[in-house]
Amino acid sequence: MTTDRELFDRWLDQPAPLLPVLHAFHERDGYLSEEALRSIAAELRIPIADLFGTVTFYHHFAREPEGRHTPRVCEGPICTLRGAKRLKTGLGRCAGMPCPGRCDEPVPVLLGDRVLIGATADLLVERPSPLPPPPAAGTTECVFSRIREPGRATLAGYLATGGYAGLDAARTGSPDELLELIDTSGLAGRGGAGFPTGRKWRAVADAAGSPKTIVCNADEGEPGCFKDRALLDYDPHAVIEGMLAAGFATGATRGFIYLRYEYPATLGILETALAESRAAGRIGPDALGPGRGFELYVRRGAGAYICGEETSLLNSLEGSHPFPRNRPPFPVTHGFENLPTAVNNVETLASVPHILAHGSDWYRELGIGDHAGTKVISLSGDVERPGNYEVPMGFPLRRLLEDVAGGAPGGRGIQAVTMAGLSGGFLAGDDLDVTLDEPGIRAKRSFLGAGGIMVFDDSRDMVSIAHSAMEFFAEESCGKCFPCRIGTRRLTERLGGDGPGDLGTWVDEVTDLSQTMKETSACGLGQAAPLITESLLRYFPEQVTRHVEAGV
Ligand SMILES: Cc1cc2nc3c(=O)[nH]c(=O)nc-3n(C[C@H](O)[C@H](O)[C@H](O)COP(=O)(O)O)c2cc1C
Ligand code: SF4
Repeated sequence: MTTDRELFDRWLDQPAPLLPVLHAFHERDGYLSEEALRSIAAELRIPIADLFGTVTFYHHFAREPEGRHTPRVCEGPICTLRGAKRLKTGLGRCAGMPCPGRCDEPVPVLLGDRVLIGATADLLVERPSPLPPPPAAGTTECVFSRIREPGRATLAGYLATGGYAGLDAARTGSPDELLELIDTSGLAGRGGAGFPTGRKWRAVADAAGSPKTIVCNADEGEPGCFKDRALLDYDPHAVIEGMLAAGFATGATRGFIYLRYEYPATLGILETALAESRAAGRIGPDALGPGRGFELYVRRGAGAYICGEETSLLNSLEGSHPFPRNRPPFPVTHGFENLPTAVNNVETLASVPHILAHGSDWYRELGIGDHAGTKVISLSGDVERPGNYEVPMGFPLRRLLEDVAGGAPGGRGIQAVTMAGLSGGFLAGDDLDVTLDEPGIRAKRSFLGAGGIMVFDDSRDMVSIAHSAMEFFAEESCGKCFPCRIGTRRLTERLGGDGPGDLGTWVDEVTDLSQTMKETSACGLGQAAPLITESLLRYFPEQVTRHVEAGV
């Protein structure tokens, strides 16, 4: 058996060592024993109480012998509709877990380092992520444009299909020219907040302090989102090229890909891609030209939705408790190790090589009207053809749902969809005629975010779906601030039948809780969760009335 010393020696000369050290012990022993935690605390000079608090914050670090091998079944909203409870009964000894990003083919079961998919225990199989379906007629893709080409995930295949043409050409110019190109392309963050990428990179370039860092946010914990998984599985070198371009533009010399725990196959793909890139000199001491190095590391999360929030992610990387940080200062000046850092989503970074290769006008004009570029939408739930669809920004939602994805199965109507995974709440009725762009959706009091859309047909009980959504937020609230910690619990109770029996009082309480959370929560989780209850009350007052009167 590998000794503690050997495990430490493998990781301690790298930055951000705590997560890989914890994973190494977890894999070796099948759980994190008290003895292991004491040994890690002593070696990394972390107070044992702090380490214990951090480790137990994550879902997937088992503290009981053999805990790592206990099957975990998705309890997300879509898998709940697809029979997750029946599957759990069939499996016997197992645990639940929040959505692990396989909503396009439920129900996923995490078993050690494998993800199995199936509706019943005897039908579980391991299979690769589905490739994205073909694009809608008359539209042009960006990040998916070459993803279906065989061999694209290898460095040789990537180079043979146009990979690195953009960065190699951009490197003959100046970092400032690259920044200008990204700025004028209109590329904005695809991870949720939609911040202009060129502005973010310029802020890092202008900030004092080094070394600077690029972080690829591959945490993808939002239920109903699974686009980053497809990009990393089939086009990992595009993400790496995007990170190298960010390094060239900002002067950063190191990067991390922070990958969610629930994507073990993707971890293997990324490790292979990094090894190939290092062997070919694409990352390493002279990656961006003589004497201009760029080192790149992958770090595996351990199961915590809040770690997708960029400052929580940075704390997780640094090995401290993954609470979100107070902002300002922002990561562009005070990020990883308090130094300038650009945190970008996988899709944002994967767009960059295409923009470098085809130009900023090409990218900008992919969108409809004033909207620049494209967006990948992860579509799941009651729809004939779920999957990842890359559509022009400004594409009509109803056209995507009905014409491209085939509408609800069995001739049923679509009652509602969620936006931004769960964080944007529901859209329903005439608001389904919205176009897929941030201003259009914000006008409907929702937001596009990372682009997860779950579809619910006209047979679904929307209060029960809202309850399951709020349970998720309550479970994942980090607890740092009380409006979110307590508000998500109180809303879950009210949606689950444990609230006032009088409709007026119920509505007043839920509205008051929602408003308080929106105004006083410290981060996006607590500010977004009440969109579920607000939109439920707006679109489905009769279902709310029935729920309160029945007391369930
Ligand atoms: C609760 C919460 C979870 C988030 N999860 C993710 C995530 O999984 N992936 C992601 O890229 N961004 C996530 N974000 C947004 C990030 O904080 C950040 O805005 C983003 O990574 C920046 O990259 P971009 O500018 O390329 O979008 C989350 C934000 C919040 C508030
Ligand atoms: S809003 Fe919620 S998730 Fe965000 S810091 Fe506060 S308690 Fe944590």
